Amino acid sequence: MDENVKKKVMLSGIQPSGDLTLGSYLGAIKNWTELADQYDCYYFMADLHAITVRQNPADLRRRTLAQMAQYIAAGLDPEKNVLFIQSHVPAHAQLGWVINCYTMFGELSRMTQFKDKSAKNAENINGGLFTYPALMAADILLYQADYVPVGGDQKQHVELARNVAERFNGVYGDVFRIPEPYIPKVGARIMSLTSPENKMSKSDRDPNGCVYLMEKPEDIMRKFKRAVTDSDTENCVRYDPAAKPGVSNLIQIYAAITEKSIPEVENEFVGCGYGVFKPRVGEAVVECLRPVREEAERLLRDKAYLSEVCRTGAERAGYTANRTLRKVYKKVGFVI
Ligand code: TRP
Repeated sequence: MDENVKKKVMLSGIQPSGDLTLGSYLGAIKNWTELADQYDCYYFMADLHAITVRQNPADLRRRTLAQMAQYIAAGLDPEKNVLFIQSHVPAHAQLGWVINCYTMFGELSRMTQFKDKSAKNAENINGGLFTYPALMAADILLYQADYVPVGGDQKQHVELARNVAERFNGVYGDVFRIPEPYIPKVGARIMSLTSPENKMSKSDRDPNGCVYLMEKPEDIMRKFKRAVTDSDTENCVRYDPAAKPGVSNLIQIYAAITEKSIPEVENEFVGCGYGVFKPRVGEAVVECLRPVREEAERLLRDKAYLSEVCRTGAERAGYTANRTLRKVYKKVGFVI
């Protein structure tokens, strides 16, 4: 690519909600590494967003850093991406306030995530939970992002960011770039090991359904040995997601890790029953995750390195963010 052509900007916020899962590792993160070549990528740990629901302070702090370390270990290179912690860049809160004043009560009331979360946290329906999408819009608009990779649950929020940006631009001229949701290239879609009709997720009620990057090898092996296979009688490693969701999911996982095609995997296990197949998938996962986990552990011990990454990331992010913020402050009439 011509070095002089300015790359498009991609931005994503990540809730520091716990350890990374095998599902997100195989499904998304591997893609992100490629994206760094094509886009100017900004990724931040969304701690301002996290406190819209009650957090244990020590846990939040630990998870924020742990997540940073895990993303870096998983291949998100801090030299090629701008990685930072949201609260380290005050412009998020500052633009967040301005955006709040250009976002309508009615718009926020229609957000389905707000309705869901307030039903679940009936004892703590705070203002932040309600105005969360305005802060998210500020996150995006600060960096003049072209693309925001989001899952289905966040699409409505990106839509809101577009509407607010257009409204603001309509009054003050071209201040914000209008962002678009970016539908990530479908990596492997990994399903729960215990209920393979659902996506692998940390919110799975059965802890055996989800495998984490930081898990001990013996725990990973146990989960794979117990993985649900299908109630057909053929005991045969054959890919058929409709009839055999459990086995097909294991085939997908094995294929994604070994970079083999599905027929190649089927061939490799011709004549093997599930009792042979399941531990083999487990071993492949253990070996794939081992170096990532070890690197994350090493980074977490290296406090000086991690804080330096966070500091440089925040500095680079702050530079871009403050340019937008100053422009906005000027437009709305603040004395600067
Ligand atoms: N709301 C997002 C989530 O819950 C996290 C997030 C915060 C985000 N700010 C963002 C995502 C900006 C994309 C862009 O997952």
